[in-house]
Amino acid sequence: MPDSIGWGIVGFGWVARDFMAPAIRAAGHRLVAVCDPGADARAAAADLGAHGHADLAGLLAEPEVEAVYVATPNHLHRGAVEVLAGAGKAILCEKPMAASLGDAEAMAAAVARTGILYGTAFDQRHHPAHRLLRDEIRAGRVGTVTAVRIVYACWLDRGWTAIPGQTNWRIDQAQAGGGALMDLAPHGLDLTDFLLDEPLLDVTALTQARAQDYAVDDGALLIGRTGSGVLASLHVAYNCPDALPRRRLEIAGTKGLLVAQNTMGQESGGSVTFTDGAAGETVALRFDEGASPFLEQVRAFGHSLRDPAGRDAWSAERDLHTMRLLARAYAASPSHLPARSPVLPAA
Ligand SMILES: NC(=O)c1ccc[n+]([C@@H]2O[C@H](COP(=O)([O-])OP(=O)(O)OC[C@H]3O[C@@H](n4cnc5c(N)ncnc54)[C@H](O)[C@@H]3O)[C@@H](O)[C@H]2O)c1
Repeated sequence: MPDSIGWGIVGFGWVARDFMAPAIRAAGHRLVAVCDPGADARAAAADLGAHGHADLAGLLAEPEVEAVYVATPNHLHRGAVEVLAGAGKAILCEKPMAASLGDAEAMAAAVARTGILYGTAFDQRHHPAHRLLRDEIRAGRVGTVTAVRIVYACWLDRGWTAIPGQTNWRIDQAQAGGGALMDLAPHGLDLTDFLLDEPLLDVTALTQARAQDYAVDDGALLIGRTGSGVLASLHVAYNCPDALPRRRLEIAGTKGLLVAQNTMGQESGGSVTFTDGAAGETVALRFDEGASPFLEQVRAFGHSLRDPAGRDAWSAERDLHTMRLLARAYAASPSHLPARSPVLPAA
């Protein structure tokens, strides 16, 4: 089998066009076909030499499609994943895994039933700065890790859209499953698991609807603790002007502090420093500043598809746990999002 993977994409919007399609090309893979009800989206795919289909059946009929990237609005992830898993396709599905915990449970069950390769597209696992942080933690650079502190925020107002003419589904509870917490916290929750090699077990949160004129949360503070006792805090927001410092990741330990700035996101670059806990000196740590997390993610998924030995890196069950943490976080902040949040598990 050739190393080059034939890809399909379901939902050819912002993240698919700006990040995934270029990554597929840069990895030496092929974008074979897309499925999107939008004529503009299908025209954009045709410009890249891919076949456009208005429905999933058309994409499934393409024999060259081995792996499918799902990048629709959140509430449509489940339907696409169930059909694709049933057809035996490998699936890389965008985060959050789904718009509700019930949908995520159904998706994990479909993956388990069919045995396909499934990954949620946590591209930030593949950012070289974050791999460096994990290596430094494992090597004992910060000593005993005591805390992970994350700020991941942006400005997302009612009219926000990355592609002109599209509606802003992110502020619609039914399509998004929540607001800033649902959209932005999955990255930090997954990254914490990746960096520490253990998930958060206990979480609680407070949400706010403070600065924007819509009903979903425009900010949240989440705190959590891993089984071994590391504390984590995530401040996520849709109410932070983009010109302000708003992407910061700190790993605190008994011997020092690692700080990554502007590494969380879809793009390459950013910076990492280490401050020594004894001397107080701060040094910059180098990593490949040109390596795109999306490209690295496509390469990693392709390797796992060709070599089953690498499949442990992807886990629908781990991603389901992240959805459970989100459900608990929303449940802990009932004053802002009462029973409206569909991520709440059924009573
Ligand atoms: N990993 C990241 O950093 C990252 C960044 C942005 C978005 N995302 C995730 O990617 C997903 C898409 O986000 P986006 O910003 O690209 O949204 P978008 O609105 O730009 O694109 C969504 C696309 O899905 C299409 N679509 C709608 N219904 C469909 C259907 N039934 N079948 C196929 N296509 C359909 C729309 O026409 C649109 O082209 C979301 O889950 C989002 O959370 C992840």
